Amino acid sequence: MTATVTLPDGTAVPALGQGTWHMGEDAAARAAEVYALQAGIDHGLTLIDTAEMYGSGGAERVTGQAIAGRRDEVFLVSKVFPHNADLKRMRAACQASLQRLGTDCIDLYLLHWPGGVPLADTLAGFERLRDDGLIRRWGVSNFDVGGMRDWFDLPGGSACATDQVLYHLGSRGIEYDLLPWCRDQALPVMAYCPLGQGRGPLQDARLQRLAAEADMSPAQLMLAWVMRNKDVIAIPKAGTLDHVADNAGAAGLQLAPETLAALETCFPPPTRKQALDIV
Ligand SMILES: NC(=O)c1ccc[n+]([C@@H]2O[C@H](COP(=O)([O-])OP(=O)(O)OC[C@H]3O[C@@H](n4cnc5c(N)ncnc54)[C@H](OP(=O)(O)O)[C@@H]3O)[C@@H](O)[C@H]2O)c1
Repeated sequence: MTATVTLPDGTAVPALGQGTWHMGEDAAARAAEVYALQAGIDHGLTLIDTAEMYGSGGAERVTGQAIAGRRDEVFLVSKVFPHNADLKRMRAACQASLQRLGTDCIDLYLLHWPGGVPLADTLAGFERLRDDGLIRRWGVSNFDVGGMRDWFDLPGGSACATDQVLYHLGSRGIEYDLLPWCRDQALPVMAYCPLGQGRGPLQDARLQRLAAEADMSPAQLMLAWVMRNKDVIAIPKAGTLDHVADNAGAAGLQLAPETLAALETCFPPPTRKQALDIV
């Protein structure tokens, strides 16, 4: 069964979803990408993360095709470019995303990364879209703890639904300060690149051995680790049915204390502040 994470407004969303970066870039791959996302939905991976940036709108089109006729089954996350994140341009950007996605409302709309637009203008833009029913809630991405504090200092800023940041076994910097800060606000983190983009730990012989001992695949071990505390959402991207099924198998997996302890040794947590990791 798919575990859930509860957003600040009380909405429960799947702890394990699907990413879409690099989808919609190649017409020849489109049918397979749509099929992979649909298979993921069938497996319960019903949170889908996309962005106007991915494939210059192509990933939103692929997502729209995948969810056609089953929009109600899906929790849809998309992101606005920082340069579009002001009162005027955000509406046009959101409407274009909605059209590509084939829906009239985005469940969670994120500022993709901090840019030049004053945060207060972005927040005002989000609120207006929410008032008008184009989005249900909003949040941010690639914000470190200082940016989060600035955001939460704004009137209404604490209505933020998530901070989407890079997090996996090989990149644990957020555990030093950002993750504890978010926990203090009861703010779930959404982990992008939870498989380290298929590199790093996933290829590490120590992780592969621990996964075999735990009777999991390496990807399942990485995903179960990201989701271990029930307040982090993982959004792996998978382009093949095998990968989709493998990842879906991580939903609800519990890690034994000895596995967790071995992972702490092989992939240690940060001991001091690190710059927020990004891709
Ligand atoms: N907010 C941001 O700035 C930001 C930045 C980056 C990503 N994201 C979001 O987060 C999502 C995930 O990040 P990501 O796509 O960069 O990296 P990722 O999910 O960590 O890794 C994706 C890679 O892992 C492979 N893979 C998937 N399942 C696997 C499995 N079970 N076994 C082995 N390999 C597997 C995929 O191959 P196949 O494709 O061949 O299956 C792909 O090459 C993105 O798609 C995007 O939606 C957000």
